[in-house]
Amino acid sequence: AAVHPFFGGHQSGITTPVQDRLHFASFDMMARTDRDDLVSLLQDWTYAAARMTQGLDVSVSGAVGGSPEAPPDDTGEALGLPASSLTITFGFGPTLFELDGVDRYGIAAQRPSTLEQLPAFVGDDLDPNASGGDLCIQACADDPQVAVHAIRNLSRIAFGRARLRWSQLGFGRTSRTTTAQQTPRNLFGFKDGTRNILSDDTAALDEHVWVAASDTPAWMAGGSYLVARKIAMLIETWDRVRLSEQNDIIGRTKGEGAPLSGGDEYTEPDFAAADTTGAPVIPVDSHVRLAHPDANEGTRMLRRGYNFVDGNNDLGRLDAGLFFLSYQRDPGQFIRVQRSLSTDVMSEYIRHVRSGLWAIPPGAAPGSYVGAGLLS
Ligand code: HEM
Repeated sequence: AAVHPFFGGHQSGITTPVQDRLHFASFDMMARTDRDDLVSLLQDWTYAAARMTQGLDVSVSGAVGGSPEAPPDDTGEALGLPASSLTITFGFGPTLFELDGVDRYGIAAQRPSTLEQLPAFVGDDLDPNASGGDLCIQACADDPQVAVHAIRNLSRIAFGRARLRWSQLGFGRTSRTTTAQQTPRNLFGFKDGTRNILSDDTAALDEHVWVAASDTPAWMAGGSYLVARKIAMLIETWDRVRLSEQNDIIGRTKGEGAPLSGGDEYTEPDFAAADTTGAPVIPVDSHVRLAHPDANEGTRMLRRGYNFVDGNNDLGRLDAGLFFLSYQRDPGQFIRVQRSLSTDVMSEYIRHVRSGLWAIPPGAAPGSYVGAGLLS
C-alpha cells in the first residue's frame, strides 16, 4: 500500500487512487469557541493528519512513548500498521461561516457565495440532525482500522473545540480515479465509476474539479467542493427486478457495464440508437442517460463514493446503500445533475437520507495548516 504526501497544492483524497475503505465524519464547533480555537484546531488536525498519513502516531510520544502516568496521545490501534494509503481531507461547511446569522469566527465575508445549504430535491428524505456540519473529514485507507484510527484520534484532538455530529463507514469503493484501477461495483451489482474524471486528465480536473485562481473567493484556489449524500438502497425491492429491467434502469449491462447501445464498458453510449419500434435503446429515464454530460450541458464531477451496510432494520432488511461523494469546482454542478435525475427510474429504489456540502480548501504548504488561506 502507498504513502501519500499530505502537503501540496491540492488536498489528497480527491484524485488519489480511490482506497478500499472510508470513514467520513462531520463535526460541529462547540458553543463559546472563538477564532483562535478554530485556528488551533486546524493546526492540530494538520499536524496529526500529516503524521498519520505517513504511518506515524499522532504525536512524537504517540501511543506508548509518553509518561506512564498520563493517557497516551495516540489511542494505539494502528500501532504496527503501515500508512495503508491513508488520506485525510478537510472541509468547511456553510454553518462554519455563519450560523443563524452569527459570524462566530469572523469569516462570514469570506464565504463562497455558492456555499449554502443544498436546495431540496425531489424524493429527498433527509435527516437534518445527521446532515450538514461545520467541518468534515474524509479519511480513506486500504485498511479500515487505519481509517477509523484517523477519525477517532482527530475527534479526540478536537476535544473542547469541536464534536462529532454524524459519521459514516464505507467498506467498498464505488468509483475509480485512475485507468489502472478496475471499475468496482455498487450494491445494485453494477459497475460504478466507469465514466469518472481520472487523475491524469488534468484538463478535465481544471475545468470541472479544481477551483481556479480566477474564481472567487481567492482563498479557495486549488480547492474544490464536496457533496456527500447518504443514499439508502431498497435492495430487497431491487433484488426482485428482472435483469433486463435492471439494465434498462441503469442504461448499461450488468455483466460488462457496456452501454445498452452496444460495445464494451468504455464505448461511448449512443443515445440516438433506437430499436425496431423506434424506442430509444438507452431508455429516456435511465440513470446513465440523465446523469450524462449530454443531458446536463456538459456538466461533470469526480465521484468517489462507497458502499455501506449499517446493520439491518426490524423487518430483517439490510440498512444498505451508497455513500455518494462527489468533488466539483462549483456546487452548481451537483445541483444540475441531481435535478436532472428527478425523472430517473432508479429513484424508486433509493432514498437520499443524509446530505452535506463543504468547501474543500486547497492543500497546505509544509509548515502551514489546512485553511490558513482563510484564517491568517
Ligand atoms: C453513472 C449508479 C447516484 C451521477 C453511474 C453508473 C452507475 C451509477 C451504475 C454507470 C457507470 C459509471 O459511469 O459510473 C448510481 C447509483 C446511485 C447513483 C446506484 C445511487 C444509489 C448518483 C448521483 C449522482 C450520480 C446522486 C449525481 C447527482 C452519475 C454520473 C455518472 C453516473 C455523473 C456518469 C454518467 C456518464 O458520464 O455516463 N451511476 N448512481 N449518480 N452517475 Fe450514478
